[in-house]
Amino acid sequence: MKLIVAGSTGFVGKEVIRQALRYPTITSVVALARRTITVPEDAGIDTSKLKCVVCDDFENYSEDVKKELVGADACIWLVAITPAKLNTMPFAEVEKICLDYTVKGIETMSPIASKPFRFIYVSGVNAERDQNKKPFLMGNYSLMRGKTESLVLEYAKESSGAVEACVAKPGLIDAPGHSNFVQGIMKSVLCAVVGLPRVELNQIASTLIQQAVTGIEKETLLNEDLVRIGSKVLEERGLSS
Ligand SMILES: NC(=O)c1ccc[n+]([C@@H]2O[C@H](COP(=O)([O-])OP(=O)(O)OC[C@H]3O[C@@H](n4cnc5c(N)ncnc54)[C@H](OP(=O)(O)O)[C@@H]3O)[C@@H](O)[C@H]2O)c1
Repeated sequence: MKLIVAGSTGFVGKEVIRQALRYPTITSVVALARRTITVPEDAGIDTSKLKCVVCDDFENYSEDVKKELVGADACIWLVAITPAKLNTMPFAEVEKICLDYTVKGIETMSPIASKPFRFIYVSGVNAERDQNKKPFLMGNYSLMRGKTESLVLEYAKESSGAVEACVAKPGLIDAPGHSNFVQGIMKSVLCAVVGLPRVELNQIASTLIQQAVTGIEKETLLNEDLVRIGSKVLEERGLSS
């Protein structure tokens, strides 16, 4: 199968690429991003399956980029501005990257993909779909991410089976060595205070890939689902730590 990983240069994207290159039934991995990725060199990784595709403008896909996306079976969509980077740009820019790019992505890929085309959209636990319920924390951001979730799911519903969509809603994604001692303590305090659930990076990556390859279990995967599915897949594949 052919898998597109959009946002392949990011924290989650790099792990998805690493795992996808080891996955036997994935025969082609398209790493889609605005810049080229560093190809992983771990043992057991088949880099011959990897094609790095640089997209200069996620609102206007060039014919050369589209050509590389033809016939894909699934896409894992990870392009976004995370809360940590929210204050680095105006909100309109954040919305363009998180919402407009996602909608343009599914609209561009679906007509040229295999059918059914699975679109796995990674959002966040606090994204709110009900536009009348503005959360106290990061209200506009949460509503905008929730609206994006709804647009993705609606697109699939209106596609008469051509597109199958899934929204993953992780809490804090963590990985060994990702934070120093102080950051680790701050994250634990944050999780405890705001009740933020956690999922390990290898668990979420395994879940996303499994949903893309074997089918979508349900249209919304909560943090607990990402932990449950991911740990089972890692155990079955002998990769659990
Ligand atoms: N990390 C967490 O703890 C966490 C928790 C919950 C949910 N999530 C969600 O998981 C998803 C992936 O998160 P992540 O941690 O992997 O984020 P990340 O490391 O910041 O990666 C984001 C990706 O989006 C791309 N991107 C950002 N701005 C772009 C632009 N203007 N044009 C094109 N590409 C652009 C980045 O490309 P560049 O590398 O070129 O900037 C990168 O590939 C996001 O939806 C995030 O909200 C993450």
